[in-house]
Amino acid sequence: MGVYPPKLKSGKFNAFKTGIIHNFSHNVNLIYLDDSMSINRRTILKSSILLATPLQALTSIEVPQVQEVKSMSSNDFWHSIRTEFPMDRTMINLNNGGVSPSPRSVMQALHTGLDYANQAPARNICQQQEPGLERVRQGIASLFGVSDEEIAITRNASESLQHVQMGIPLKKGDEVLTTELDYPRMITAWEQRGRRDGIILKKIPIKVPVMDTSDIVNSFKKAITKNTKIIHVSHVSFCTGQIFPVREICLMAKEMGIECIVDGAHSFAHFPFTQSDLQCDYFGTSLHKWLYAPVGNGMLYVAKDKIPTIWPLMAANLDQDASIKKFEEIGTHPAALHNAISEALAFNDRVGLANKAERLRNLHMRWITKIKDEPGVSFMTDINDTNQWCGLMVFRFEGFDHGKIGEYLFSTHRIITTPIKYANVDGIRITPNIYISEGEIDYFADVLLSILKGRVKGLKG
Ligand SMILES: Cc1ncc(COP(=O)(O)O)c(C=O)c1O
Repeated sequence: MGVYPPKLKSGKFNAFKTGIIHNFSHNVNLIYLDDSMSINRRTILKSSILLATPLQALTSIEVPQVQEVKSMSSNDFWHSIRTEFPMDRTMINLNNGGVSPSPRSVMQALHTGLDYANQAPARNICQQQEPGLERVRQGIASLFGVSDEEIAITRNASESLQHVQMGIPLKKGDEVLTTELDYPRMITAWEQRGRRDGIILKKIPIKVPVMDTSDIVNSFKKAITKNTKIIHVSHVSFCTGQIFPVREICLMAKEMGIECIVDGAHSFAHFPFTQSDLQCDYFGTSLHKWLYAPVGNGMLYVAKDKIPTIWPLMAANLDQDASIKKFEEIGTHPAALHNAISEALAFNDRVGLANKAERLRNLHMRWITKIKDEPGVSFMTDINDTNQWCGLMVFRFEGFDHGKIGEYLFSTHRIITTPIKYANVDGIRITPNIYISEGEIDYFADVLLSILKGRVKGLKG
């Protein structure tokens, strides 16, 4: 069992889970909200008006009558979300996994903050803006379900994870277990630690697609020796989109006295879960992927009792030894950048993570359904088990060169995708986002079909 299915009650629009979107019937009303919802129907429409047309909303908010709200379909909702991302709509961006664009409200907070800082930098950044970090910390801690004394705001997942990878005490001969599907930079970090300190890195091969997630847990179990000190595992593999059974891995590791570092670069704010669902000791993520914060934001979670044992990448004072803030000693930086995370949190709060996950899966199912029965088509995750994937999906066309397909998709159709050749994976990663429309997905699927039917020459491997 992974951390799915998403908890229905955690998303503010969790009534979507009723199957409204699942059936692609977008003319159904949004009135399935039950009494347990934390916002009411008026608030939904009111907040969408505020975000869509801020000036108008400030001067006169017309609180809609119940009848009007009833007519807001899920289709309307996702259309209103779509236009909140100021995209180049001459392209279809199906690589939101690398880094995501931010909604307009987030960019506005960033730009306003940077302008304000520039008016009197030393005073405005240090005295006015930097204290705002505490609200950001509280917001992220709350989303992850932990104490704010366990959350550091960093610049990305690489920095977060390397604080732990480089700072955890290990000696020659100690073993670290990871998988061949883990992220190359994180593997490089362990390999460098190997050259420096003589630790041993073991990469477990994972057969794709995974049909039974307990196979992954068993592979870890089998690879553990008396020297194993750390398990480092992705929550979502960047190269297959597989959601790993992190909870089971962490619980198994705990029983054996092994610590678990979870690379959550692709999971945080992508679908609903908290630290207690994972049971990890450490968790590092970027916030410029699925949370939609501006580029250059990340988060590190370290369990409170472990903080004193980790050396930060940049030096901190002795009296900060037990403080999570020792991981934030990076020198002068634009406080407006991390403060804009609070706007990204507000945006996600409005959408609801369960709804976001549902939307992403439905967008995927739309193109998958059109091509899955064509000869030579396969996927790097089990498409029939939606507990095992969400926003990332990797397809493979037997006999084709996926690099050439990627080039063709962009040069001819302005569709951005991610060809991937890594470990035992050779395919194209598709990561839509909640601003992608059904029409864009249908266009993409039709192009894929034309490739499969042999109507495009020169793409074979
Ligand atoms: C699984 C995984 N870990 C870590 C990272 C590093 O993220 P960043 O470059 O934002 O530090 C990525 C980036 O895509 C990733 O996919």
